[in-house]
Amino acid sequence: MMLSKRTNWSLQPNELTKVYRARREQGLPILDLTESNPTQCGFQYDANKILNALGNSRALIYEPDPRGLLSARRAAAEYYAERGVHLDPEQIFLTASTSEAYSFTFRLLADAGDSLLVPRPSYPLFDFLTRLNDLDRIDYPLVYDGHWQIDRTALLSRITPRTRAVLAVHPNNPTGSFISREETDFLTACCQEHSLALIADEVFSDYAHGSTPGFQQHSFAREARALTFTLSGLSKISALPQMKCAWVVVNGPEALRRQALDRMEVIADTFLSLSAPVACALPQLLEIRHQMQPQILRRINSNREYLDSQIGPSSEACRLKTEGGWYAILRVPAIHSDEEWALRLLKEDGVLVHPGHFYDFPSEGYLVLSLLLMPAIFEEGVRKLLARVASDSR
Ligand SMILES: Cc1ncc(COP(=O)(O)O)c(C=O)c1O
Repeated sequence: MMLSKRTNWSLQPNELTKVYRARREQGLPILDLTESNPTQCGFQYDANKILNALGNSRALIYEPDPRGLLSARRAAAEYYAERGVHLDPEQIFLTASTSEAYSFTFRLLADAGDSLLVPRPSYPLFDFLTRLNDLDRIDYPLVYDGHWQIDRTALLSRITPRTRAVLAVHPNNPTGSFISREETDFLTACCQEHSLALIADEVFSDYAHGSTPGFQQHSFAREARALTFTLSGLSKISALPQMKCAWVVVNGPEALRRQALDRMEVIADTFLSLSAPVACALPQLLEIRHQMQPQILRRINSNREYLDSQIGPSSEACRLKTEGGWYAILRVPAIHSDEEWALRLLKEDGVLVHPGHFYDFPSEGYLVLSLLLMPAIFEEGVRKLLARVASDSR
């Protein structure tokens, strides 16, 4: 075979995708409760400000810098300074996406066949990101007991001599759970003791539920006890995924941090991935968050309240507690597998939801919905979904 084993995926569309495509081809209506592309959810973007930012004449000059343009890194540092975290712009590397920031970090830390500890349930892309870098993904469970927390004993028991780093998503997608300060102390102590790096994904950190916009929680960017990589970017901070701009902040004990920065510079220099128009525009594109985050939080809070208002005390479904992020998780009776629930909802009711196994939930009976949707779509979809759960459970 001419192609790599690491890309030997099964590329057959799954059953849910087949049914979805068939419905679309037949022109049948679909209430897509998985939509999490903010540019498709009816938010008001300041088009002039965004497009003007991209027209900076400075972008006519090529000024390659492995870390990305200094003025852009200063803007990212300023974002953290507002959260009380003071960084040297030299600690920041700009990338085209968080995925790329993950990839750079993985290449820096691990060799083929090494492993990373990854939370479960979590972001589905971790499977691809680890595999594309020839790494083993070893899951550590998050358990729900009124709120989500790390199963610390399980995490410790899964560390092997080949483990290089622990990933933490703050707040996690889709569980919406922030990593508490005690958990942060536990993770850093564990990384120190076992010579592991800590990789923290904070893309959703500005979206604490029920709060005013902005960072309500501690940031891992400040963390210097263990070698720590903190990832974030425009796709969630300013709801601008199409601008392709993210970053990784490197922190940690001085000597280790220095080495990591020097080597990361070579990786970043090999790619020089951020385009000049976006780098020049970053200060203004970050400002856009002040217009987007309040709208998004209002939407998330009101959709969540609507969902709760429809789930009565005797309802067969319940919503798991979330602290942040763009998703809601419904627990439904495991009379069907979560795949069957999703298929049934799509075929019978034209409602698309994500079955829990997309995110590696530990058992059946979890459905994931996006809270970004326009209320009319969200509310109709939720009514149909809950009616189906009620009628099937009878
Ligand atoms: C946890 C998490 N990290 C990162 C991303 C994507 O970030 P980017 O668009 O910068 O690759 C997502 C997107 O949904 C996400 O859920």
